Formats: sequence, C-alpha cells, structure tokens
Amino acid sequence: MVTVRAPATSANLGSGFDVFGVALDRPADIVHVERADRTTIEVTGVGSQYIPTDPDRNVVGAVAEALDAPAHIRIDKGVRPSSGLGSSAASSAAAAVALNELYDRGLSREELVPVAAEGEAVVSGEAHADNVAPALLGGFTVATDEGVTTVDADIPLVACLPEIAVSTRDARRVVPSDASIEDMVHTVGRAATLAVGMCRRDPDLVGAGMHDRVVTPARAELINGYHAVREAALDAGASGVTVSGAGPSVLGVCQAADRTRVAGAMLEAFDEADVAARAYKTRVGRGAEVF
Ligand code: HSE
Repeated sequence: MVTVRAPATSANLGSGFDVFGVALDRPADIVHVERADRTTIEVTGVGSQYIPTDPDRNVVGAVAEALDAPAHIRIDKGVRPSSGLGSSAASSAAAAVALNELYDRGLSREELVPVAAEGEAVVSGEAHADNVAPALLGGFTVATDEGVTTVDADIPLVACLPEIAVSTRDARRVVPSDASIEDMVHTVGRAATLAVGMCRRDPDLVGAGMHDRVVTPARAELINGYHAVREAALDAGASGVTVSGAGPSVLGVCQAADRTRVAGAMLEAFDEADVAARAYKTRVGRGAEVF
C-alpha cells in the first residue's frame, strides 16, 4: 500500500486567473492505494457524502485510467469539496503520486501535472493545472501552455471558508468573455507585482499584486458577505484579499504577526452577514508527500 498527503491549494490569486497557484500548508487530503484488478473508490472525511465513488465520475478514477494503474483507492478528505481550496486537485495529485509509486511508473512530479489535471476535467469540464501544479510541486506555481514554473515562497495566508457551496462550473459561467485593454494592462501589472513579491518573499508586494478588475468582481457576487469580509481583512492588516480559486473561500495575505487578527476579522464579517465560516491560518507550503 502507498499513502500520500496532498495539500489544499489556492488558484488565481486574483490577477493570475487560470495561471497562478499556491500550495497551502493546511488542510490536506490523504489518499491510500492498493493494487487491484479494477479501480474501486472509498471516500471518508469532510464532505465525503457529496463525492461519487463511481470511478467514471470521481477525479481519482480519471487519474488511475490515465496511468493505467487500477487500484483500490481510499480518500480521506480534509479539503471540503466546492470550497475554492482545490479539493479535487488535492485528491487528484495525491492519487497521481501514489499510483505512480505503486506501479513504479517513474514519472516526475512535473510529468504528473497533466495526469492529475485529467482529474480536474471530470469536475470542471476543463483540465486546469493551476491547482494540481502546486498540489504536486508545492510553493507558488505559474502554469502556462509552456509548462509550470515554481518558486519556493514562504508567505503567511488566511483562507476563510464560508458555508456556501460554489461549483467551479457555475463560477466559470460568470467569468466575462472579454476585457478592455485598460483592464488587461492593470492585470498584467498586478500579476507581475505578485510574482516579484513571491520571489522576494514579501507579503506586502504579493498582496498589492492580488488585485483584479475582471474575474474577481464577477465571482464576488456569488459569495454572500464578500465585500465586507474583504474590507474587514484589509482593515485588520491584510495587504491583499481575493476570492480563492472559484470560491467561495476568501484568501488574505498578511504579515505573520497579523494572521490571527485578520482571521478573526474575516470570521466576524461573515458572521455579521449571517454566514457560518471557518478560517485556516496557513502559509505557502509543500507539495504532495509520500508517507
Ligand atoms: N482557475 C480555476 C478557476 C480554478 O478559477 O476557475 C478552479 O479550478
């Protein structure tokens, strides 16, 4: 048997829609795999009741198929589905690493990115790499059609998860189909600022680079309380706040000393909007690990 832990991730970071991602040091999924004649899936943990165990409808079934690696796959969910924290990517990445090891396929972590992205296609209809790349490789990742670039950044974060479900499919429907040249220039400037901030391990620059005028405003409307939560986090010392992935989680970046205050402010603002929520005080972390 092989056991792998793969972390939650946050994609986009505002200005890097479908390109940027970070691994979070918590929460995480744990996946156990054992050789079998055909793939079967068992799911336990947070939100497991919403996850199909049919291999044709579960992300890890697509990964097993792509690696030609039938197995009994047990997923212990620590990352809630439809949270914007890369729940399906955590399972896909963990399964890809575990099955690669179990069947001795010899693929590198970089080579496993498109394999794990096959799992993403099962849930969102498109094979995005912006969550699976950091789940596999760790750190801050830039996923483009040329491949994935990584930076081992150490940046404090708060991920605040409200009890609202937003599916990636729904959140993609509200993304505008075009943007003005002014908005494009703004986004490129912010994305470049964020990337420099990650390289310099500077939370203030990363936060300044998160701002986005195209995708985030449309998605914010799907998250009850988003604007108040964002304002509260900024007032509490966050240098940047945005929608995590497709939402509904809200991601704040701040100095380590401000993390508790930022988390408290976000929770209080969601509470005032009558939305129950939990906050993860986290940081940019490592990729999938074999136990
Ligand atoms: N970049 C994707 C999105 C992440 O925001 O829709 C979710 O797969």
